[in-house]
Amino acid sequence: MSKEIVLTGITTTGTPHLGNYAGAIRPAIEASKDENVRPFYFLADFHALIKCHEPDRVRQSSREIAATWLALGLDTSNAVFYRQSDVPEIMELSWMLSCVCAKGLMNRAHAYKAAVAENEEAGGLDPDKGINMGLFSYPVLMAADMLMFNATKVPVGKDQIQHIEMARDIANRFNHIYGEHFSIPEAVVDDNAATILGLDGRKMSKSYNNTIPLFETEKKFKKLINKIKTNSLEPGAPKDPDNCTLYGIYKAFASDAEVAEIRQRYAEGIAWGEMKKTLFEKINEEITPARERYQALMDAPEHIEEQLQEGAAKAREFSIPFMQKLRESVGISKIIQA
Ligand code: TRP
Repeated sequence: MSKEIVLTGITTTGTPHLGNYAGAIRPAIEASKDENVRPFYFLADFHALIKCHEPDRVRQSSREIAATWLALGLDTSNAVFYRQSDVPEIMELSWMLSCVCAKGLMNRAHAYKAAVAENEEAGGLDPDKGINMGLFSYPVLMAADMLMFNATKVPVGKDQIQHIEMARDIANRFNHIYGEHFSIPEAVVDDNAATILGLDGRKMSKSYNNTIPLFETEKKFKKLINKIKTNSLEPGAPKDPDNCTLYGIYKAFASDAEVAEIRQRYAEGIAWGEMKKTLFEKINEEITPARERYQALMDAPEHIEEQLQEGAAKAREFSIPFMQKLRESVGISKIIQA
């Protein structure tokens, strides 16, 4: 039986943080060990260009994200791990899909609509101010990412579900016109995935500037944990774990028994300093071996590059012949067939 294709992309604009780790990276790496699945995980660097026009940042982020996934033990003998830009067939497919994708469908994309709404609220004359074509056609490129490899399952956060619906629409349209080329992808949203709050108690997110990078030095990491905002209850005063950022993060790293024990200690009035220390130790224990591998990879980027090149070669074993078939199906071929 052929393996199920699970595919997901990571936009290369930031530094992986604890929230990314617990919510997406850790489950994806776990899934890469399932032998019934063939994961395609990639660095979405063309997507990065939509919102980031700083070349150094895109480069640095690509490097950090790749090193993170490798350091955490992604099984690259099973998973295909590559950089989107190393597989030019994806871009080519993106154009073919653009040409069957209704513009009206893209008008309804929420990232685009939100940008327009913001402009309208600001009261300016041009509702499309600051919106580039990359943002507008972002869902088409994302559809190409999935359809290129006939992905059937696409693990994503809730905010991405609409994009997968759009990819399904586009795939059906293409199949209807040119024949059954594409599998129809399905979003997989893990409701149990941990959502971690950041330093200020809002969702941990690059856009809030409240993140704890996953692979800071141990010292900086400890400092950041100590900076997480709490209320001002004194040691000895009973505390409510369910409205506590520290507890929420702890839960994503500890066993059920440890979590039960910590709840008890909240009731007994654990001091915030003590809880921060417990939290630091718990996470540090889990990530220390990977942190060392991460540093080694960042110091020897040629090893990262080598893995990415291998991944791209594996991906292209599939994408090159598939693209040839797609070209023929749309009428792009040599005048005389050899
Ligand atoms: N747009 C996704 C995000 O911001 C990243 C991404 C790009 C992606 N291409 C994809 C995710 C294809 C799943 C499938 O999170």
